[in-house]
Amino acid sequence: MADYVNIFDTTLRDGEQSPGATMNLQEKLRLAQQLESLGVDIIEAGFPISSQGDFEAVQAIARQAKEMQVAGLARCTEKDIDRCWEAIKDAKRPRLHIFLATSPVHMESKLRMSPEQVLETIKKCVTRCAGYTDNVEFSAEDASRSDREFLCKAAETAIAAGAKVINIPDTVGYAQPREFGDLIAHVIANTPNSDKAVFSVHCHNDLGLATANTMAALAAGARQAEVTLSGIGERAGNASLEEVVMSLSVRRDFYGLTHGIKADQLYPSCRLLSLTIGQPIPNNKAIVGANAFAHESGVHQDGMLKNRETYEIMTPQSVGRKASSLVIGKHSGRTAMRSKVEGMGYSLDEAQIDLLFEAVKSLADRKKILHDDDIIALIQEEIFRLPDRFRLKHVSVQCSSCGGVPPTAAVILEIDGEECSRAGFGAGPVDALFHVIADMVKRDPELEQYAVNAISGGTDALGEVTVRIKEHGLKATGRGAHPDILVASARAFVDALNNLVKQEQEGVRMTYQRD
Ligand code: KIV
Ligand code: ZN
Repeated sequence: MADYVNIFDTTLRDGEQSPGATMNLQEKLRLAQQLESLGVDIIEAGFPISSQGDFEAVQAIARQAKEMQVAGLARCTEKDIDRCWEAIKDAKRPRLHIFLATSPVHMESKLRMSPEQVLETIKKCVTRCAGYTDNVEFSAEDASRSDREFLCKAAETAIAAGAKVINIPDTVGYAQPREFGDLIAHVIANTPNSDKAVFSVHCHNDLGLATANTMAALAAGARQAEVTLSGIGERAGNASLEEVVMSLSVRRDFYGLTHGIKADQLYPSCRLLSLTIGQPIPNNKAIVGANAFAHESGVHQDGMLKNRETYEIMTPQSVGRKASSLVIGKHSGRTAMRSKVEGMGYSLDEAQIDLLFEAVKSLADRKKILHDDDIIALIQEEIFRLPDRFRLKHVSVQCSSCGGVPPTAAVILEIDGEECSRAGFGAGPVDALFHVIADMVKRDPELEQYAVNAISGGTDALGEVTVRIKEHGLKATGRGAHPDILVASARAFVDALNNLVKQEQEGVRMTYQRD
């Protein structure tokens, strides 16, 4: 379809290259499932040659995916391509995605190849890929700083060798919207066989222009956008999926383009990512941030009350932020809760509904009304939490304002199924808690980051704590939610320790090296 934009999600590949966004196998599978519910056309599941863990994750996603295409990334080498194919070949619709740089600085300083050698390599490697599948994508890395005519030659060579998608990345986020739109139009017009391929863009956000550049490219003829949830990715990130999609929807009058994304799954998807990687969505993030639909000033509130369209170009409901009239509290029944959860876009089985119902009842004992975000946090905590080595059973913390007994923490933990308890002191209550827990599991991690975020309003709001720890060169993030932030802190710390152990078991990830 000439006016259809393919949404290529690279949250699990480029997104995972963002600092602190490492995910384990189960987390990737769960996010991939959500991306399929969101309706992405292609998911880039990883970079199989980079580590055994990445290979296994790509393979598992390829086997789990139903309709969406599953792409794996490979450099232009036989070894990379063969390994990548091995990982994706079980997908219903696998895609081999290979890349090679075409800019003078990359060819000379990094690849140490002449332009002729680069063209020769593109031809050889695309031909190898085409021997495996006819769904081959070629990316001209650093395209926006490449010579235009050479870029056209590279695209022509790749298409002639069998590539069906040509990706023009703004790898270092250098392009400006009008310039980038011109580049895309130029490459499409000046590549003799351009009608045999779909042109794609992949924009980085170093100057904050990733979404603007992507939109300019789509207006100029590109029909695939490579994006990530909340715009996570290498350095300043990638173009954000929700921004690109909602620009296409809200300004359909301007672009005249369609897409297959179910917009009401945008918020649940970004929220799931945020909880998975333990990084809160910034309040001012377009579409999914807490303030994206909040109206503070009197003039704006007055306008909103008279007509929402005065200050709202889309409704919160349209992006999955349901202002549902169904309030869940102490007296709500199982049916009301199920309908609420389904309305929020989650489909849970009977056993999961039972688990959630118990958790909702217990939270409702402390908190009168549960907001949507409280329920999402419970789903993450109680349903999607993976089997762990360490389980927190009980914490009790005593604070002190001055002198006397220092802050004290007592903890009961289950370690590999066996219950044990310990108490100890610290400089503050969180310090006491973390020391006692670390001692119990015989670890000594360094605390790199500790952040508390109130999930919903009011003093009885659920507190969400995120911690990042580091030990022996490995880093792990953990999160925990509870109305008592000390309990949330303990949960987050135990979660981070479990993730550290899982990483050790999965093997150290090889650092991403492009060449
Ligand atoms: O930024 C980039 O150029 C990439 C390519 C591998 C597509 O991520
Ligand atoms: Zn990239």
